[in-house]
Formats: sequence, C-alpha cells, structure tokens
Amino acid sequence: MNDKVLVHPVEKVATLIYDNKVEGSMFVAQNIASVIQRNNEENKHTVLGLATGNSPLLVYKELIRYHREEGLSFKNVVTFNLDEYYPMGKKDDHSYNHFIFENFLSQIDVRPENVHIPDGELPLNEVDRYCKDYDDKIESLGGLDVQILGIGRSGHIGFNEPGSKITDGTRLLELDSVTISDASEGFGGISNVPTKAITMGVKTILQAKKIFLVAWGTEKAEVIQKAIEGSISSEVSASFLQNHDDTLFVLDPAAASRLARFAKP
Ligand code: F6R
Repeated sequence: MNDKVLVHPVEKVATLIYDNKVEGSMFVAQNIASVIQRNNEENKHTVLGLATGNSPLLVYKELIRYHREEGLSFKNVVTFNLDEYYPMGKKDDHSYNHFIFENFLSQIDVRPENVHIPDGELPLNEVDRYCKDYDDKIESLGGLDVQILGIGRSGHIGFNEPGSKITDGTRLLELDSVTISDASEGFGGISNVPTKAITMGVKTILQAKKIFLVAWGTEKAEVIQKAIEGSISSEVSASFLQNHDDTLFVLDPAAASRLARFAKP
C-alpha cells in the first residue's frame, strides 16, 4: 500500500485525501497505468473492472492521456464493467454501455473482443445464466487485477444496493429509491429511470486483487463516513470493502469532511 496512506484509529479502510479530484484521479490512473505497463512488459494480460458514473471520469481521461502521449497500450487489457440498467438498449444514450465507450473505451486501443459489459437487452429468462457466465469468465482470466469503484448515496458499489450480501455474485436486482432519485435528472424524470439493473456482485468485486474507490464532493460525505468508520453491514455495501486487504479510498476534502479526523479532531 502507498506510504502516504494515513491510518486513523477509527478508519477501517486505507484512505488517501487529495486536494482535489484532479490530483486524486491522476494518482489512481498512474497506479493503474503502472499495473498495465508491468503486465505488458511481461506479456501478460491485465483484467480491469470499470465503473461508470461521474466519479471515475478524470481517471479515464488521464488513462487516455497515458495511451495517447506515453504510448500505454491497452491491447492486452480485458475489461469488465460493473453494471448496466435493465432493460436497457446498448445504443441508448442512458446505457452504461454507451457511457463507457464514449468516455473511455473508444479512445484507447482495447480489442473489442476483450470488452465485457452486462447486457441489458437479454430476455429475462437468460439473465441468471448470463450472470453466472460473467463471473466464470472473470475467474477464468485469473480474476480482476484492478477494480475501479464509485459509491452511491445508498452505499452501493456497482449496484449492490442495501440488503446485498458478501456472498452475492453478478445478478439482476431492484434499484434502491435513493439511486433512482439520484438518476432521475439524467433520465428526464423519475418515472423514466429503470427500476432494475444487472450488477457484478459484492463477492465478485471483493475477489479483485486491488480496488480503488473514488469519491468527490459533500454529497458523498455521509456515506463515505459510514463505509470507512461504520461496522460492516449489508446496509452499506461499500463497508464490505473493510474485508479486502488492498482497497484504497481516494477522496477529496469534501467527501472526507465527515470522517472523525476532521469532524471530531
Ligand atoms: C456505476 C456504478 C455506481 C456508481 C455510483 C456513483 O457503474 O457502479 O456504483 O459508481 O452510483 O455514481 P457517480 O460517480 O455518478 O456519483
């Protein structure tokens, strides 16, 4: 773990606080780029777990810069997205499929056959089998080398909403009302937001070798405090990360503002 990580007595996950999201994102991107570079040099593939949403956008921007300006190749990278709304067309502007191509995958040299994104177009009776195959595929590649996470105000990682268990694999589930309400603006009204999603499970995520969770802004401060200082509980799926031995939370001061080290100095 990075030697700049400050371990505060009440914090149960390694946490780094940067002055702003640009610096925090550059740190995360640099770490991911060096994992890819090392594996490229040894002719090994790198398996990356990708989040969508606003939080990782600058990480992707910086990884694109590594590709364009520093020659970092993603030809040996295999990607697995965390989640997709269900039902959802791949080409729909609201799909996470569209989002990740627009903001990352179309701007690097990843091979199309190495990209995996949960399929929101499947008939319902094929979803369970598909989810099992998604987990098996990750496992057959040796597991995720690096997983990038954001966090929802419901405490979700991926779309593992309250009630999710540490034993859950990839599956279809109902979205929490907080998640639906947070997505309503982007969908032009709450009634347009899908109520279900396919998500990689907590179990799948925790099998990643290295995990970075990025969170920026005061709207994440309350849930970040629970995830880092609270007890491990199904109510806050991100708290399961306390069980993982190479997870780093990377925050800006606003997202960190409710931590005891600031709130109760
Ligand atoms: C998205 C995902 C979600 C988001 C979370 C935060 O693939 O898995 O867990 O990371 O909802 O979203 P933003 O970053 O938009 O605040």
